[in-house]
Amino acid sequence: MKVIYPGSFDPLTLGHIDIIKRLSKMYDQVVVAVLINENKNSIFSLSEREEIIKTQIEVDGLDNVVISSFDGLLVNFAKDLGIKTIARGLREVTDYEYEKNIAMFNSKLMDGLETIFLLSNPNYSYISSSGVREVASFKGDVSSFVSREVEGKIREKFDY
Ligand code: PNS
Repeated sequence: MKVIYPGSFDPLTLGHIDIIKRLSKMYDQVVVAVLINENKNSIFSLSEREEIIKTQIEVDGLDNVVISSFDGLLVNFAKDLGIKTIARGLREVTDYEYEKNIAMFNSKLMDGLETIFLLSNPNYSYISSSGVREVASFKGDVSSFVSREVEGKIREKFDY
């Protein structure tokens, strides 16, 4: 059984890493799918985000996790790979409202598609990539929110 774990991952947080590790124990293969959304507010380019996740997966020794990227509709990417399960993390009720809507759109767009939700680890349930971007932009301490590897990349990027 394979699963797609999609997201922007700008940047990869401790919450994302926790979900990837848990999925890697549940599925034969986890495809981390990075959304191609180059915009002015991104910290990292697509290739940097992919490289960061790749390094993290190596550090954590997750040999059944692969990284890919997609543009356009997620269901088209899922169809191309022949994968019918998408996983998302849920932090708060607000996530549920947003995710439920997307999951319903996706299940209408692709027959047999299932979206599964993993409850975030409570230690990380307040962490968001946007929060990390904000702290990083002011050269703040991001060590509670991201791995050492990601922190290093952020410090390089923001020169601190
Ligand atoms: O990390 P994010 O930004 O919360 O991830 C959101 C993501 C990438 C899962 C979502 O925006 C997405 O799937 N975008 C692709 C477009 C799409 O398929 N939308 C669903 C139909 S509404």
